[in-house]
Amino acid sequence: MDKNYDVTFVECSLQRHGEAILAIFNEVLLNSTALYDYRVRTMETMVTWFAAKEAGGFPIIGLEDAEGELVAFGSYGTFRAFPAYKYTVEHSIYVRSDQRGRGLGRMLLCSLMERAQQHNVHAMIGGIDASNKASIRLHEALGFRHVGTLPEVGYKFGRWLDLAFYQRNFATPVKPEEG
Ligand SMILES: CC(C)(COP(=O)(O)OP(=O)(O)OC[C@H]1O[C@@H](n2cnc3c(N)ncnc32)[C@H](O)[C@@H]1OP(=O)(O)O)[C@@H](O)C(=O)NCCC(=O)NCCS
Repeated sequence: MDKNYDVTFVECSLQRHGEAILAIFNEVLLNSTALYDYRVRTMETMVTWFAAKEAGGFPIIGLEDAEGELVAFGSYGTFRAFPAYKYTVEHSIYVRSDQRGRGLGRMLLCSLMERAQQHNVHAMIGGIDASNKASIRLHEALGFRHVGTLPEVGYKFGRWLDLAFYQRNFATPVKPEEG
């Protein structure tokens, strides 16, 4: 990464980061198949998104530049809603388009992995569009393993999309419990 490029980790809040996160989501949604979504999102969707993260005790980790602008964020949440999935999370990472390829995605994913272990997560799953080379490279570099691809489960920009799952497991929790 550019050594002169200062970024700081922050915990994101709706008030401070809602608009910046919304703008990043919408840029990705409009210009890529990284998000399997069609319509530009609104601030109302951000209110629901932040509330779900808070209710689940899930982190939203951001990176701010020297001016305090949010340039990237990552989070995780419920993988599937049944109780026995409680030690598994699905994560996502977004870097603002003008800041990609500088190591910010790597910083965020490392930080999410640390946080996950602190919170007794056992498995982290990334659902990645199979054409998303940057994300696949990033996950492989950080020890995630390709565990399967669901062919043609998405449809966007006039074509079928394959969803590749990448997984990394941790030694946590030391003593898993049911219930
Ligand atoms: C995918 C994304 C999060 C990666 O973050 P980034 O900051 O651009 O990536 P980094 O600079 O940290 O690079 C991480 C690794 O990916 C590689 N990489 C980055 N961009 C790449 C590209 N366009 N093609 C191939 N590899 C790429 C880097 O070389 C690096 O690998 P290395 O550690 O082996 O050198 C970012 O590009 C992004 O936000 N994209 C749009 C949204 C998205 O796709 N999110 C992920 C949804 S699953």
